Amino acid sequence: MKKVIFAEFGGPDVLRLTDAEKPHAGPGRIRVAVRAAGVNPVDWRLREGQVLAAHPTELPSGVGQDAAGVVDEVGEGVEGVAVGDRVFGEGASTYAEFAVLSAWARMPGGLTFEEAAGYPSVVETALRVIREVGVRPGQTLLVSGAAGGVGSAVLQIARERGIAVTGTAGAANQDYLRGLGAAATTYGDGWVERVRRLGPVDAALDLAGSGVVRELVELTGDPRRVVSIADLGAPGLGVRFSGAAGSMRDALAEAVRLIEEGRLRIPVEKTYPLAEAAAAHADSKAGHTRGRRVMVV
Ligand SMILES: NC(=O)c1ccc[n+]([C@@H]2O[C@H](COP(=O)([O-])OP(=O)(O)OC[C@H]3O[C@@H](n4cnc5c(N)ncnc54)[C@H](OP(=O)(O)O)[C@@H]3O)[C@@H](O)[C@H]2O)c1
Repeated sequence: MKKVIFAEFGGPDVLRLTDAEKPHAGPGRIRVAVRAAGVNPVDWRLREGQVLAAHPTELPSGVGQDAAGVVDEVGEGVEGVAVGDRVFGEGASTYAEFAVLSAWARMPGGLTFEEAAGYPSVVETALRVIREVGVRPGQTLLVSGAAGGVGSAVLQIARERGIAVTGTAGAANQDYLRGLGAAATTYGDGWVERVRRLGPVDAALDLAGSGVVRELVELTGDPRRVVSIADLGAPGLGVRFSGAAGSMRDALAEAVRLIEEGRLRIPVEKTYPLAEAAAAHADSKAGHTRGRRVMVV
């Protein structure tokens, strides 16, 4: 089978499309014929040799954790899924023709493989940070970096729960945020004042890691009402850095419910064949993805 790997840490050009043995589904796992794999910023962070403490990486390494595909092998002890089922979920080395998944759910009807591959990690992260920041229905949540994958999920899950959202994004994404039910303003000079003019906020999320944690504390009045997923300096300001993933199985079940009810949609910004993984990583790192970028097999 074809598989994207890197044999050394470095820039996008260390990625190689190689021939590899098909992996096998061990106990409690399934193997899928991958049709699409979500591109998450953690994929290029690992390739660069960042975040190794949280994600120990042996070289050569595969790439990718999210996938959608067709089940083609079922491991020992797995029930409720059969060869031929269309599933999406989380595993390892998903930029490949075949990959093993450790958590999965049946794909909701009406979703393409490309779309489905964009959900697993962003929905798990969105559910986790909304829970950890402790925002309640009727309150207002400020989201810095609202147009990306995680932001798109946070806005829609918050709306479903009766939480009002104010989001920041670039000029090109203002209508996108409003379309997801949020009040919107641009980041950059004067942004704190622009947010204040939109009204008070009860809690805030830093999803972009753009060095705004201090201002988010100012706007909420309490570091315990702020959570960051992208600024390792946050704890120095008394703000929680959320890094430990919650239950992917629960997140996928919630994603299926929301998608089937028409309450959650993560747009696909662009698709790439496996041979163009380097371009997908460079585009993701440029930092202006709306929704998710996706590898297609
Ligand atoms: N700790 C964890 O568990 C965890 C989990 C998932 C992700 N992450 C991290 O969280 C970050 C976001 O992930 P993602 O998947 O949502 O990324 P993404 O899809 O690549 O989105 C990036 C978004 O950031 C926005 N942005 C860029 N510069 C900004 C600025 N100065 N202020 C506000 N927004 C800005 C962009 O919007 P515009 O195009 O409008 O500029 C873009 O939509 C990444 O750094 C990722 O590594 C951490």
